[in-house]
Amino acid sequence: MLNGKKVLYSGMQATGNLTLGNYLGALKNWVNLCDEYECFYGVVDMHSITVRQDPTVLRQRARNLLMIYIAAGIDPEKNCIYYQSHVSGHAELAWILNCFTYMGELNRMTQFKDKAAKHADNINAGLFTYPVLMAADILLYQADVVPVGIDQMQHLELTRDVAQRFNGVYGDVFTVPEAYIGKVGAKIMSLQDPSKKMSKSDENPNASIYLMDDPDTIMRKCRRAVTDSEGQIQYREEQPGIRNLIDIYSACTGKTPQEVVGEFDGQGYGDFKTAVGEAVIGVLRPLQERYAELAKDKGYIDGIIKANAEKAGYAAAKTLRKVQRKVGFPDRIR
Ligand code: TRP
Repeated sequence: MLNGKKVLYSGMQATGNLTLGNYLGALKNWVNLCDEYECFYGVVDMHSITVRQDPTVLRQRARNLLMIYIAAGIDPEKNCIYYQSHVSGHAELAWILNCFTYMGELNRMTQFKDKAAKHADNINAGLFTYPVLMAADILLYQADVVPVGIDQMQHLELTRDVAQRFNGVYGDVFTVPEAYIGKVGAKIMSLQDPSKKMSKSDENPNASIYLMDDPDTIMRKCRRAVTDSEGQIQYREEQPGIRNLIDIYSACTGKTPQEVVGEFDGQGYGDFKTAVGEAVIGVLRPLQERYAELAKDKGYIDGIIKANAEKAGYAAAKTLRKVQRKVGFPDRIR
């Protein structure tokens, strides 16, 4: 608990460009969570360097991501949107938690196995202990809930195990976090292969709509979306492409899939795709406009970065001091 509210923590990497899937599935649904939770959203730049990054690009992307959070409507005065690297407690707690995590546990992490296979020339220790840093992110703020996708569930389970192990030895130090199961966002699939999730790392640029795509590009991608030859707009498993477009339209307009099916009954795929394109353009336009304003206001963004690093640092220090005492580090002389 913090300020009488439960704590929610989530982090996002600043690698790749955010997609419509990230927005409709996550960001959009986070806007009002601050009414109920004390929310921390980390731009987890320390995680990003587990694979090689161009420093200039990483710095720019981290800032872009921070601005996208704000442009998406997450109020930076009510939510702590900050850079992980600005709060040294993440690294300090990660070290301590490393000493409470077993090699065998980390060896079982499927994301590690995937990434090690993908970056065979750079299987560094950071990539291996990535989940421990993630556990530190979460536990540092005593988070009660963590909104995570299915791909991060194994890391959250590990976080819970490590927290319980530590608590077992030292008493109740950490809040044991749970997956956030509130209103879940839409799961948006690739426009080129509707059996795969829309991903910011997809190699085919037509598979994903990026948040910063201009209207012509959005329309073109929607019109090229892979569908089927049934010729009927129905919401069913046998038509995954059409179903995905219905999901997108429904998330953009607030209509239920059934209402969407009713609205387009008897119409061709071409008209429907155009309507989907227009709905997406309508949703992304205000976000892009707000983003453009923020990008011009360096002073405002810098102020947010500074204030939130302090706010996060304060909450983090409280946990860290407690943990350091518990494990037996000497008190500081002041
Ligand atoms: N590993 C997460 C991902 O790649 C990002 C992340 C880092 C995270 N720290 C976190 C997510 C803490 C939730 C909570 O998606």
